[in-house]
Amino acid sequence: MAELLTKAKDQVVEALSQATAAVSLGAPSDAVYVDEAAGDDQAGDGSQGKPFKTVLGAFISRASDTINVYVRQAAAEGEAQGSYAAATASAKKKATKLLQQHRNKLAKDEERRKREEVEGEARRAAELKKLDDAKAIVIDEPKEDSTKIKVRQAVEQRGKRVRVFGWVHRLRQQGGMTFVVLRDGTGYLQCVLSGRLSQTYDALTLTLESTVQITGVINQLPEGKTAPDGHELTADWFSVVGKAPGGDEAFLNKVNEDADPSQLADARHLVIRGENASAVLKVRAALLSSFRESYINLGLLEVTPPCMVQTQVEGGSTLFGFDYYGQEAYLTQSSQLYLETCLPSLGDVFCVQESFRAEKSHTRRHLSEYTHVEAELAFLTFKDLLEHIEELICQTIDRVLADPKIKELIDFLWGGKGKFEAPSRPFMRMDYREAIAWLNEHNITRPGEDGVEGQHVVGDDIAEAAERKMTDMIGRPIFLINFPKEIKSFYMSRIPGDEGFTESVDLLMPNVGEIVGGSMRMNDLDELLEAYKTEGISPDPYYWYTDQRKYGTCPHGGYGLGLERLLAWLLNRYTVRECSLYPRWTGRCTP
Ligand code: 4AD
Repeated sequence: MAELLTKAKDQVVEALSQATAAVSLGAPSDAVYVDEAAGDDQAGDGSQGKPFKTVLGAFISRASDTINVYVRQAAAEGEAQGSYAAATASAKKKATKLLQQHRNKLAKDEERRKREEVEGEARRAAELKKLDDAKAIVIDEPKEDSTKIKVRQAVEQRGKRVRVFGWVHRLRQQGGMTFVVLRDGTGYLQCVLSGRLSQTYDALTLTLESTVQITGVINQLPEGKTAPDGHELTADWFSVVGKAPGGDEAFLNKVNEDADPSQLADARHLVIRGENASAVLKVRAALLSSFRESYINLGLLEVTPPCMVQTQVEGGSTLFGFDYYGQEAYLTQSSQLYLETCLPSLGDVFCVQESFRAEKSHTRRHLSEYTHVEAELAFLTFKDLLEHIEELICQTIDRVLADPKIKELIDFLWGGKGKFEAPSRPFMRMDYREAIAWLNEHNITRPGEDGVEGQHVVGDDIAEAAERKMTDMIGRPIFLINFPKEIKSFYMSRIPGDEGFTESVDLLMPNVGEIVGGSMRMNDLDELLEAYKTEGISPDPYYWYTDQRKYGTCPHGGYGLGLERLLAWLLNRYTVRECSLYPRWTGRCTP
């Protein structure tokens, strides 16, 4: 109760003091208040509680310079706040001048807005009329003969009348002409539509990614002018085959460099139309045919093993399983075991097959599905195997680089960031135990079990980061060989006399790390049966693999190469995801 009384008393005192202040100022009831320190021209309303900041603000709000303005004075000594006094004549005069300037500016702004509105309408009307008139321009196709060509044939067809089909890759209207860079997958061709051709409705409303056919003559460009292949097609006719949308649905609104990565992944089907992505895919194709040519030169035969299998090769943790007519089956991790079965019937063999790994890790070098180039060779030593891998890689890369068109794409993809250097032979050979010592000498640590970083020890499965650091520091291809048996696959043969280690190899490349994994295979039946046991896998589904050791065993070895990893190295790509047509990784199976 006492509290309530005190509060009521305070309110009365406050009201009285305000009334007194107003009375003592003699301010009229329509007075507008300004507080240059605490007021606000936008949020204020001119009351004592919400004063304006400037006299001009008060004038603008009341649209008049004849109002009664009261300005808060500086506080006198002992006063918490100064009281209000009528604005001085000079302050009012200055504000009147500013008000006039403000009004002039508003009038000018309004005038400009109206002018722009009228001009805008006129422009729109003119555009509509132009489009309407354009509909009336009908250009018949000239009767003259033409040769249907792909863009890649353009150079040899210069000077003749040709017909090309393709997608509008770039588009520019300039000086009454329409410049189209046409793309058909085999190249880019600049086409120029001029005169009435560029005034047609189709030319005026053309959009990126529309499909068109264009006829005309291809002419070499004079010195100083640039276009793909140094020539351009002077069109005499064109027609739209399929129009792509403009506005919100326009291609560049779906695919652009600033888009979020997951949006770009969803739009991969459109992204591959771009110059970078399509260049990667073209080099990929060249690389694949170069691999095949190298294999033919080296005397290996291509086979196509199945993708649906009932055996694991590289451990159960990365298997994709599925129900196969009521039986358990998997997507293949590697075709190795099948390749081994071909040796007695076909000799040395290779395959280019998709492999699948249920990788939980989101690294830049792992995919859930990748293209696996694998080979298997009979009657050879581990040394022979390493030399074969070296020969295969060098021959394949040299051939790719010898193709000027492909070399141009590789240089384009490296951009300004250096240049691809073909590896020189021999590749460095480094024993696993040497690598452990090298890592420790260079203070490249590994995370310990308790999370504390520590020195590497023999037996460690060298982590990706450490391996990459070492490879980047050495800066050349490394054959890392002779891994401990515990960290490698069950089928790898042991080093004679050093049974804790295997005749195994990982080929490491700068910037990417491991691109090849291979080994000699156990060829002794009992040793293999023992290895199944150690691995904890039943020998039953492997009967056909085991039979290789029964019906004429032989020393043999092979390897698998991840095509996307090799491409990432060759094309200086940040991730293997850029090197696959439709990459799959954890959680991503579209498009
Ligand atoms: O080292 P890996 O697992 O070896 C094998 O599968 C053997 N059976 C191959 C053989 O001897 N025939 O895999 C071989 C290569 C790796 O060096 C790597 O380049 C690639 O396959 N690779 C992957 N590439 C992309 N994403 C993944 N998840 C990969 N896993 C392996």
